[in-house]
Amino acid sequence: MSDDILKEQIAHYRALAQEYDELIFQTGRYAYGEQSTSGRGDDLAFVPQLLQILGPFEEILELACGTGIWTREVVKIGKSVTALDASPEMLEINQHKVADARVRYQQVDLFVWEPNRQYDLVYSGFWLSHVPPEMLDAFLAKVRRAVRTGGQLCIVDEHSPPPEEREAAQQGIYHQRSLFDGRTFTIVKVFYETALLEEKLRQLGFQTHVQQPNEYFFALTGTLEQD
Ligand SMILES: C[S@@+](CC[C@H](N)C(=O)[O-])C[C@H]1O[C@@H](n2cnc3c(N)ncnc32)[C@H](O)[C@@H]1O
Repeated sequence: MSDDILKEQIAHYRALAQEYDELIFQTGRYAYGEQSTSGRGDDLAFVPQLLQILGPFEEILELACGTGIWTREVVKIGKSVTALDASPEMLEINQHKVADARVRYQQVDLFVWEPNRQYDLVYSGFWLSHVPPEMLDAFLAKVRRAVRTGGQLCIVDEHSPPPEEREAAQQGIYHQRSLFDGRTFTIVKVFYETALLEEKLRQLGFQTHVQQPNEYFFALTGTLEQD
C-alpha cells in the first residue's frame, strides 16, 4: 500500500468536510429525490439505538469522528469523549455542531497514532472500511490496546456496497470519489466480511456480536475479556 493513497484519503476527507453531511444524508447538493437508492438516514437509525443499549460509559474514544454525526450520540452515553480525526476541517465542524465540553478533540493520523491510555468504549463509525487489508491486523491490535479490560468496542460500517458503488467494489479496494466541484480522489474502501472481523477480534480477546439491521450496514460489538 502506497503511503500516497493514505495521504490522498486524508486530502479527500479534508476537501469533502463541508459537504459530508449532505452526501451521507442525501440532502442539499446530494439530494437525489425519489430516485435516492441508499436512504441512509433511515438505514442508520439503528446506531443511536444500539449506543443507548450499550451505555453508559465513563470514558469513550471515537475513531475518525468526522463531522460529529456519531460524536453527538456517543457523548449522550459517556462522561467524556476523546474524538480523533486527521482532518482539521472535520474536527472544526464537529466541535461547532456538538459544542460539548465533555468532548476533547485530537487531530491525528490513525495509522501513526498509538493509544497512550485505555477507554471503556472505543467507537468506530465508517472508518474500518478505509483501513487497507494489509494494515488491518496491526490496526485492530492497536485498537485492542485502547480498550480497557472488560471494556467494549463498537464498529459500525458497510458490509455491502450501495448500488452506486457496486461496480467499483468489484474492481478492488481503490475507489474514485468525486466532490461536488468535480475534484476526484482515490481512497481505500473495503467491504470487510463481518465473519473475518469477528475471527480477528476473537483472537485478540474480544467476545463479539454482530447485527446486520439492513442491507448495507453492520454493527460489530465486542467485550474485551480478562486475560
Ligand atoms: C467516512 S468518514 C467517517 C466519519 C464519521 N465517523 C462518520 O461516520 O460520519 C472517514 C473519516 O476518517 C477520517 N480520516 C481519513 N483518513 C484518516 C487517517 N489516516 N487518520 C484519521 N482520520 C482519518 C476522515 O477525515 C473522515 O472524517
